[in-house]
Amino acid sequence: MQNKEYFVIEGLAGSKEIAGSIEVNGSKNAVLPMMAASLLYDSSLVIENCPDIEDIKRMSELLGGLGVTVDRTKKGSVVIEGQRLSKSILDAEISKRMRASIFLIGPILGRMGEVTFPHPGGCVIGARPIDLFIDGYLKMGAELKEDENFYTLACKDGKLHGAEITFKFQSVGATETFMLSALLAKGITILRNCAIEPEVTSMALHLIKSGAKINGAGTTTLIIEGGDGALLHSDSRNVYQAIPDRLEAGSFLILGAIAASKLKIEKCDPEHLSVPIEILRSAGADIEIGKDFLVVKAVPPNVCRSISVKTHEYPGFPTDLQAPLTVLISQCCGEGTIFETIYEGRLNYTADLMKMGADIKMWDAHHVTIKGPNSLKGRELEGPDIRAGIAFIIAAIVAKGQSVIRNAYYIDRGYEQIEERLRKIGVNIKRVSA
Ligand code: UD1
Repeated sequence: MQNKEYFVIEGLAGSKEIAGSIEVNGSKNAVLPMMAASLLYDSSLVIENCPDIEDIKRMSELLGGLGVTVDRTKKGSVVIEGQRLSKSILDAEISKRMRASIFLIGPILGRMGEVTFPHPGGCVIGARPIDLFIDGYLKMGAELKEDENFYTLACKDGKLHGAEITFKFQSVGATETFMLSALLAKGITILRNCAIEPEVTSMALHLIKSGAKINGAGTTTLIIEGGDGALLHSDSRNVYQAIPDRLEAGSFLILGAIAASKLKIEKCDPEHLSVPIEILRSAGADIEIGKDFLVVKAVPPNVCRSISVKTHEYPGFPTDLQAPLTVLISQCCGEGTIFETIYEGRLNYTADLMKMGADIKMWDAHHVTIKGPNSLKGRELEGPDIRAGIAFIIAAIVAKGQSVIRNAYYIDRGYEQIEERLRKIGVNIKRVSA
């Protein structure tokens, strides 16, 4: 997916001039599954602290196509009338643009007895199969039909049934979707080897507040009592307050560790970033931890030490911060490594960093070594996914000269008005519409 808007950045040539404060928005990865959770309620769900980003717009359009209204009532707030769900076919074009479309299949199947959807799309980060989803729904009593364009899942007797599902590996999306499906099913569902990312736990806690019977929130085993199709009812106004985006906060933290004299990152939850904070400190970064803020000062060139990092499910180092971290390692003294364990193809962006002057060797689809420090030079780049896109922005800020980052859409998918927020902390960045 390409769009015509692009960013132009004048680099700081390695000087540590970033300063001031930057606020973190609500978490994209918490809001998207909650938009799917709106289908479980008998009245409206209000989501507050909701970022105004492209992925949320796409999810709103998808819900709109299913008969559900999504209104942005004021800045940071959306109201979703999930009870109005009236269709069971997901729009193919939008689904192919966003992996999170898969979150909707469980609630639709549980409510309508069937759902039709294409293979979901999203970032270009290698194969992203949906086998966990298909296997789980077969266990819950659905049947699968496939043609070259669509999958259709249909419940044999019109409803989902509780089941014991052990995920082969932890999946954020599968844990969230099956939590929602289990609440609509008949009987008890046991989910084992669940993801425990803060976004999953935040969703579970909100559902529990609305009367959902979920045991084990925040752990890898969830035991869920289904309502046999009954929708959840909230006695008071049903408001979900999105948790701060730990991936946005982590991106700003890495930017600060490379290029800030002093940067305050406000409205974040430092507890969600404890491993990245420890790793950045081991590279020499000066990080102060507050209740809901972080203050970071750049690693002085003679102090910075290279680091080796393996991405891991939460609470380990998130795969989504791996690309920005590579930029930091390229500015550290010595040799560091990145071992990407979650995705194949999520290191391809390193080819562009090499063209900027980074000394990187890719050993295979999962391993790179990075030698530093190396000055980077401004270049023309194209963001292949949300997180590589923000890594390119960070690299362009560090570099000498001008960089052009094409395909602003990929950055807009996850970061609201990034250029305006970065300008306030001293980045020379502008958005250009061709
Ligand atoms: C979520 C996040 C994404 C993050 C990822 C891992 C959202 C909207 N997105 O994505 O930012 O990078 O978690 O932390 O929350 N897999 C299969 N079969 C399946 C399902 C997943 O093989 O049926 C694989 C994936 O290809 C990947 C791994 O499981 O290799 C983990 O993916 P998963 O946790 O499901 O990621 P998402 O929920 O898509």
